[in-house]
Amino acid sequence: MPSVKIAPSLLAADFSRLRDEVQRVEAAGADWLHLDVMDGHFVPNLTIGPAVVESVRKVTRLFLDCHLMVMEPEKYASAFADAGADGVTFHAEAVAKDDARLRTERGWMMTLPCQQRYDGQRVDETVGRLRSRGVRVGVAVNPDTDAECVGELIPKVDMILAMTVWPGFGGQKFIESVMPKVRKFRAMSEALDVEVDGGVNPETARWAAAAGANIFVAGTATFRSEDAAGAIAALRRSAIGE
Ligand code: DX5
Ligand code: ZN
Repeated sequence: MPSVKIAPSLLAADFSRLRDEVQRVEAAGADWLHLDVMDGHFVPNLTIGPAVVESVRKVTRLFLDCHLMVMEPEKYASAFADAGADGVTFHAEAVAKDDARLRTERGWMMTLPCQQRYDGQRVDETVGRLRSRGVRVGVAVNPDTDAECVGELIPKVDMILAMTVWPGFGGQKFIESVMPKVRKFRAMSEALDVEVDGGVNPETARWAAAAGANIFVAGTATFRSEDAAGAIAALRRSAIGE
């Protein structure tokens, strides 16, 4: 199994002191820094764009793990790679076939219907743009999107992100019923990075690790702790099953 990584999510940081906050989790032993990009369409919230990624790039050596919660990722992915991201993850639900793009209560196409699936051409375009810039590629799936809907994408990507909350906001409760899907992803590939994101704390990280996850995104549990080193160490102990 690929190595365990703890990825504090910048969303929970104090944005008035971004440099200090990034350097605080770096010094505290973070492996990756997770950056949540929201467009106000795919999810009902707005956050950061490439300019912030570029600024963060200047103050840290951490691997920058950009999570794009945006419509039309094929249009925006390369801007994040050019801004200094080391990995870019886009949502399978955001590259659904055109006729599957329906407005739902939670936003646009929050669950990918397996029979309609993603648009392979849009996936290839997004992956191609990222690969040509040498960044790692991830595909994210929302809590109700089945593993089978994206199984064929696994050979094309480095990482699957299984959302353990509905995307859009930090501080939500971990959805435990996603764990069987994490197990399926791990069964599909031993080498794949399987990331969980949302509601991750030392208790839920243990459940996700048991299911096969190896990358743990945590916002509230890291940035909102006064002892970031202790918080990251506690997550790591759960993640490695100590
Ligand atoms: C949610 C984001 C998460 C979020 C996690 O849409 O993708 O990365 O920051 O925050 P916590 O760890 O507080 O659930
Ligand atoms: Zn995220």
